[in-house]
Amino acid sequence: MTTHRTDSPELLVNAQNINTYYGASHILRDLSFSVARGETIGLMGRNGMGKSTLLKSIMGLVKPRSGSVEIAGHDMTGRSPYEIARLGIAYVPEGRGIFGNLSVVENLKMAARAGTRGQRDWTYERVLDTFPRLKERLSHGGQQLSGGEQQMLTIGRALMTNPEVLILDEATEGLAPLIAREIWRICQLVRDTGISSVIVDKNWKHVSQITDRNVILVKGEVVFQGRSQELHDRPELLQQYLGV
Ligand SMILES: Nc1ncnc2c1ncn2[C@@H]1O[C@H](COP(=O)(O)OP(=O)(O)OP(=O)(O)O)[C@@H](O)[C@H]1O
Ligand SMILES: [Mg+2]
Repeated sequence: MTTHRTDSPELLVNAQNINTYYGASHILRDLSFSVARGETIGLMGRNGMGKSTLLKSIMGLVKPRSGSVEIAGHDMTGRSPYEIARLGIAYVPEGRGIFGNLSVVENLKMAARAGTRGQRDWTYERVLDTFPRLKERLSHGGQQLSGGEQQMLTIGRALMTNPEVLILDEATEGLAPLIAREIWRICQLVRDTGISSVIVDKNWKHVSQITDRNVILVKGEVVFQGRSQELHDRPELLQQYLGV
């Protein structure tokens, strides 16, 4: 394992020259992507452009054929999702994935642990204060929750691990506007507490309101990265790459 780089900025995720395939399909093409401490990143692109595959490649859920993945200064190329998560990366996949047969309390409590720097900022009580809806449904089984409540539970569970980086794939997909607004509020709160995040969502306007940097993928390659203001100022980019 390599040690922390002392030159700035501190990279919590540093994926370099990633090539990922599904069978013969070359999905990520020499893609490099990094997350610095405290940074909130919007990962954008139309359907099928490789956003989820990139996140899975970082998490060790799919194995890139080449390239390297460093997490908090450690070379984690080819390592398991469990080992990567242990270095402070919390991943909320698209379509969620709670334990449906466990209650809200159990889902949250089984996730609890201190962060990699020993931080215990996110306690059970704080998560419930942050998600008042969950507080009202503590004994409900995961599968009894609405889609929005399930998403809150997955995010709550991710926060219980006191992560350095929160990765949200399709943050508000399929959620009613009111619930989506609640998720955006949480994203802002997470940001305010200094946790880095990577956010994927169809709604680029909401994403760009809370991000420092945005990365757009087309067919597994980065075609643009820049600040949110630049996206707002260059509608032709959005038209060309996002079709909006
Ligand atoms: N398990 C798989 N096996 C084969 N091909 C896959 C698999 N998962 C994704 N793909 C293909 O890889 C490409 C990238 O998919 P990916 O899910 O990463 O895109 P995405 O940007 O997350 O899209 P979306 O916005 O629809 O979630 C697509 O062409 C998709 O069809
Ligand atoms: Mg996806």
